Amino acid sequence: MKKVVLPAYNKNIIKAIRSLHVDECNPLEPGKDEVLIRVHAAPCNPSDIAFLMGGYNIVKKVPAVPGFEGSGVVVEAGEGAEDLIDKKVSFFIQEEDCGSWSEYVVSNRKKLVVLDDAMDMDQAACFAINPFTARGLLDIALLRDNHTIIQNAAGGQVAAFVRQMATDMGIEVIDIVRKERTVTRLKEEGARHVLLESDPDFEQKLKKLAAELDARLAFDAVGGALAGRIFNAMPSDAEMVAYGGLSTRPVSGIDSMDLIFRDKIISGFNLPEWREQMDDDF
Ligand SMILES: NC(=O)c1ccc[n+]([C@@H]2O[C@H](COP(=O)([O-])OP(=O)(O)OC[C@H]3O[C@@H](n4cnc5c(N)ncnc54)[C@H](OP(=O)(O)O)[C@@H]3O)[C@@H](O)[C@H]2O)c1
Repeated sequence: MKKVVLPAYNKNIIKAIRSLHVDECNPLEPGKDEVLIRVHAAPCNPSDIAFLMGGYNIVKKVPAVPGFEGSGVVVEAGEGAEDLIDKKVSFFIQEEDCGSWSEYVVSNRKKLVVLDDAMDMDQAACFAINPFTARGLLDIALLRDNHTIIQNAAGGQVAAFVRQMATDMGIEVIDIVRKERTVTRLKEEGARHVLLESDPDFEQKLKKLAAELDARLAFDAVGGALAGRIFNAMPSDAEMVAYGGLSTRPVSGIDSMDLIFRDKIISGFNLPEWREQMDDDF
């Protein structure tokens, strides 16, 4: 089988991408509760970019095969997974010796979502990470009984799933973006509250809206100064959940008084840990 191989991590993403090449090897054998999947498609997510640069929390021994999710068809099964043969699946994979940028992968059945035959297989390649991340984040809103959330990087995929699911759950969303044209796009798509981070009145507008809508939960995918500006604009008893670091800058500018006297907190969300907390049938 063919697989894409990263020979070495490189902080320079262009050099890392240019170093990728295709190797041939024998497909792995599925063990107990495992299946062999013929891969249909695999995306390149921000986590893959971070992985190629050696800046992700998963660091495989190099040479390594990148790719943490994809779609495909089960072509072989180990003991206890025979019922999955010929099924279309989405899979999530972080194992040392496997990556989705490959013709075949072996996955434990617990890490699969079996798909309806009508599901588009290209779309299904992006099904295992971002929609579940959005759901995991919104679980925090449900647990905290928050009826409004704030999110940055609102033009991105995770944010789009958050917005759709939040609407279905009756949760209001304040979206923050960095480009004027993204404001226009999100409003055309039905987003109700969209703020531009470069607006000179950004903080005042966010503070006013957060107070009016009692927005005490924020999902931060950016970090850096923007995270601090959002945190400071939120009311007392607010929580900011960091789930991405797209700016590659440390969260900054947070007012210590907010932490000490206004019961505000910062936490983090990591999909694999959330998935482990779900029941075995997930
Ligand atoms: N913690 C977890 O378990 C978990 C799971 C899934 C994803 N993630 C993380 O979630 C983040 C979003 O993923 P995604 O798939 O939604 O990404 P995406 O579809 O590529 O979207 C990224 C969005 O972020 C915006 N953005 C990028 N850099 C920015 C910056 N420096 N300042 C402000 N906005 C910026 C982009 O804005 P423009 O449109 O203006 O370029 C784009 O709209 C990534 O960091 C990813 O690694 C974490």
